[in-house]
Formats: sequence, C-alpha cells, structure tokens
Amino acid sequence: TGAQKGGYASFMAKEIHEQASAVADTLRGRIEDGKLQLDEMKIDEAVLRTIDKIVVVACGTAANAGAVVKYAIEHWCRIPVEVELAHEFRYRDPVVTEKTLVVAISQSGETMDTLMAVRHAQEQGAKVVAICNTRGSTIPREADAALYLHVGPEIAVASTKAYLGQIAACFLLGLFLAQVRGNLYPDEIAQQMEDLSAIPEKIQEVLDSSDQVERLALEMKDATSVLFLGRHVGYPTAMEGALKLKEIAYIHAEGFAAGELKHGPIALVDQGQPVFVIVPSPGGRDSLHSKVVSNIQEVRARGARTLVIAEEGDEAVLPYADEVIRYPRTRALFAPLLTVIPLQIFSCELATAKGLDVDQPRNLAKSVTVE
Ligand code: AGP
Repeated sequence: TGAQKGGYASFMAKEIHEQASAVADTLRGRIEDGKLQLDEMKIDEAVLRTIDKIVVVACGTAANAGAVVKYAIEHWCRIPVEVELAHEFRYRDPVVTEKTLVVAISQSGETMDTLMAVRHAQEQGAKVVAICNTRGSTIPREADAALYLHVGPEIAVASTKAYLGQIAACFLLGLFLAQVRGNLYPDEIAQQMEDLSAIPEKIQEVLDSSDQVERLALEMKDATSVLFLGRHVGYPTAMEGALKLKEIAYIHAEGFAAGELKHGPIALVDQGQPVFVIVPSPGGRDSLHSKVVSNIQEVRARGARTLVIAEEGDEAVLPYADEVIRYPRTRALFAPLLTVIPLQIFSCELATAKGLDVDQPRNLAKSVTVE
C-alpha cells in the first residue's frame, strides 16, 4: 500500500495533504458566475421558505462540522440551528415538525445513530438533507435531498478531508437557503462565494508551512495532556483538535470554549501544560479577538505553554505566545477551514512519532454501523 499512500507515511497524512483539492472538489460546479447552483437540493423551494428551525444531526467529527456551520447559517439565514449528537436526539422527544429542516452530516452515510435520527425526524414530518461523502450509501438514499462532498474516499479512520468537505458543503447549503429565502442580496452571496472559492489556495499555504507543527509534534511526543481553547467558530475547532489527538495519539485532550475557562477548566492549568489557542482575526467582530488574547494571557500566567494559532500579521498575540502558528486572512466564518489543519497535522505527526498505527487506531472503526 506504499504506493496508494502516495509517498506519505499514512493515509491520514495523505488525506490531510489532499485538502486543498478536496475543498475545491466540494465547491466545483456549484458556483457559476458568482451564482449558487445546487441542483441536488431536491426539496421544494416553497418548503424551504417555510422552514423555521434547522436541526443538524451527526456524530464525532461530523458533529463538530455541524457546530461550525451553525454560526454561519444562523448569521446568514436568521433561522435557529440546533446541533445534536444523533444518538441523543431521538431519545429526548425532540421538537420536530414539518417546518424543521434536518441536516444529517455523515462521511460514510452508514452511521447507525445518524440514520436512526433521520428516520425519527422523517416520522415527525421533517424534511432531511444529507451531507455525505459515500455515494449511494443509506443516509443519502433515505434523505429527501443529498449534497455530496466529492472529496474522494477517506481511508484513515480519523476524518480530515471529509471534515473540511462537510463544512464547505454546509456553507453552500446555508448560502443557498439565504438565496432562496431572500436573506442576503445576490451580490452579498456572490461575494461570499468568491471568498469561499479562494479557500483552497489558502489551505495549500497552510499545508506548505507544516514543518513548524511537525517539529512541535516531535517535541511533544511524551505529552500526557493537551488543552484546546477557542471562541465562536474557534470553539468547535478546539473540540475537533482534541478529538483528533485522543483518537490517534491516545493522549488525554479537551477542547473548551475559551470563555468557560474561569468557570472551571482553568484549574487544570499548571506549569508546562500545553494549551493550543485558536485566535480569531483581529479584524473580525469587536472584542472577540481581544477576549481570546486575554485568555492566552490568563493560562500563560498560570504556567501554560501556549501554542497560538493566529492570523498572519496579528501582533497582539506575540507577548503571550510560546509558539505562533500562522493562517492566512479570510472571513471569520471561513477560518475553521484553515485553523483546524495545524491541529490535524499535529496529531498525525505525534501519533506517527509514537510509532502508533495512525490509520487504524485501537478500538475504533471507520464507520459505526451499530447503535
Ligand atoms: C472521526 O475522526 C471519527 N473517526 C468519527 O468521529 C466519525 O466522524 C463519526 O463516527 C461519524 O462518522 P460518519 O461521518 O461516517 O457518520
């Protein structure tokens, strides 16, 4: 399988490095002359105009993708978006009606928990759109509409390129809903699409500067606990960074909303505790950036080793960062397509350095087809 891995040490490494073209493939053919074409959205536009709530159902990494796009869809469409772990959804008698749009995100399309949530939602009269990678799998077959990721087969158990594809596909769905429902002007949608189309190049820039994170991973190979902090879309990114590290490197890792620190988790921080912090653009929403910078300061003052993921040119983080990992400038909502990449590389390289089976981590299956 050496050849299949294209010269990389693992399928996971290969798939991480395919992410620029993966996202380009998700977007391809769906943006034409600045206009959004989603022919696969087989749900009647009249129905889409009556939707008063969106519920995303998914598990694991796919649920983290849902947590990212909640921010975008609520912002663009002014529809409330709930993100539910599929296995929790069904058992709490959720409020679902014909006016609910359920978005089921699943790379494999075969995750039993997610499939059961889809069936439950349909029984209550909800329409379901599936965001999937594997053509012809069960979830997109049973859904009312399916948007495929087109990122190619994902072999490694740890999901990477499908995560980026899921986020990009859900962005398309959100902008499409805004287009159909008239929440955004056509030129605003065209502008968003142009910025989204520029993302694959920026992903490539992040991938091309991966040596710094590779070095860090080697240095931190014996770490026993790593924390991840973020706010806004940086919060699900922190969750995903922690999940990757648990899954393949078997290191205790936790992702937190940075604002939650003082409500408990900061008690975990002592001398030498590595803490990754995902910092939003200084040009973004007022005060969000400075709040995160204060959080870096708080953990550093308690001895943390701060590994800061910050936008190019962001100087405000420098006094409190032990390490600054840069990402190219983009819209705040699109940054998760860039900021998660150093975290994926970190886990992959660290697990490789530990001599672990990166593609087949212990106790895990690529798709969980039992409840
Ligand atoms: C990701 O790295 C995981 N192995 C896992 O959390 C996965 O995302 C989850 O099981 C959902 O799988 P699906 O996307 O195929 O439904």
